Amino acid sequence: MKILAIESSCDETAAAVLEDKAGLPAIISNVVSSQIDIHKEYGGVVPEVAARAHIENIIPVIQTALDEAKTDLKGITHLAVTYGPGLIGSLVVGVETAKALAAATGIPLIPVNHLEGHLYANFLTGAEKQHANINKTPEFPIIALVVSGGHTMLVLMNDHLSYQVIGKTRDDAAGEAFDKAAKIMGLGYPGGPILSKLAENGNENSYDFPLIDLTPAPKRNAEGFLEQPEPSLDFSFSGLKTSLLTKVKQSTINQKQLTDAEIADLSAAFETAIAKNLASNTIRAVQRYKPKTFILSGGVAANKKLRETLKRELKKISPELLFLVPEGQFCTDNAAMIGAAAYFHIKKSKPSSLDFAPEPNLELK
Ligand code: KG4
Ligand code: ZN
Repeated sequence: MKILAIESSCDETAAAVLEDKAGLPAIISNVVSSQIDIHKEYGGVVPEVAARAHIENIIPVIQTALDEAKTDLKGITHLAVTYGPGLIGSLVVGVETAKALAAATGIPLIPVNHLEGHLYANFLTGAEKQHANINKTPEFPIIALVVSGGHTMLVLMNDHLSYQVIGKTRDDAAGEAFDKAAKIMGLGYPGGPILSKLAENGNENSYDFPLIDLTPAPKRNAEGFLEQPEPSLDFSFSGLKTSLLTKVKQSTINQKQLTDAEIADLSAAFETAIAKNLASNTIRAVQRYKPKTFILSGGVAANKKLRETLKRELKKISPELLFLVPEGQFCTDNAAMIGAAAYFHIKKSKPSSLDFAPEPNLELK
């Protein structure tokens, strides 16, 4: 088996080649062309600009991935592509390129859900330097926290390719909250990595941000007794953003702009608040479902504070729990993770198809 995987759901054009190695998907090559420099000046991803950049990049990126894997299409047994969720104009480029390659060569094509890809980044293997999870394969049941620019969810996996979304955000995604916070403070795009770098020089205790609990209030049952509802696993980040905006406004009443020290302190306190909010529901989920493995994935999983907070807090409640998070480059969007998800679809004999369309709002099911 040799898979060529393609990812173009947002602002990274990516391709990777993977092979089977002792029952796991192993990376042979992994190429990512980021558009951050193009979108930076607009303060966020501009969908039309992203689609045009994908059109320019996709063939060279695929060719580089094949070259680096020292192969060509004749050596490829399966194609895989992200078909959603994501930006429609971006998805179309990857999907149509993959379909054209499949139609021209007869190589079977596997459509992959982008979120499934983020989860399967934790099953990747390869050269030791390339992946931190080598020799530590997740064991089921798994609780996964997916935190990206568009999604924040807790997922229960009892087996391969089986997903139960047990908690999700009711408003902003965690990455979106970082990006918006950075925008409020005028720090640039993408907000997550910039804000977390500035947070290193700040004091997380200098500002208070709320811990949001969406558990409904107790209700009286038919006998008149108060009934405690099950603690909620859903998230909300828009309150944190408003709280930050209020603090910034208060600080800038008598001065033109925030000082460097204020920016560092606000960044540290905001980053800690996001990590604590994510950890709080994750702890509830682990206590409720008692998984063998916890996996963290998605762009925000690259955040050091979040990794440390979750690791520390989960160790306290479940010392035996296997804690896995991909190396940074496999947390943010890449095609290796799409190939990893496709690998398990192929093993479960998912039929290949040319009869599918990009789905911007595709859900994880
Ligand atoms: O998974 P991803 O690359 O794209 C989506 O599928 O959305 O995630 C991108 C998000 C952005 O919101 C970015 O600000 C955030 O991940 N991010 C981070 C860090 N690196 C990327 N957030 C916090 N800390 C980081 N180090
Ligand atoms: Zn993503």
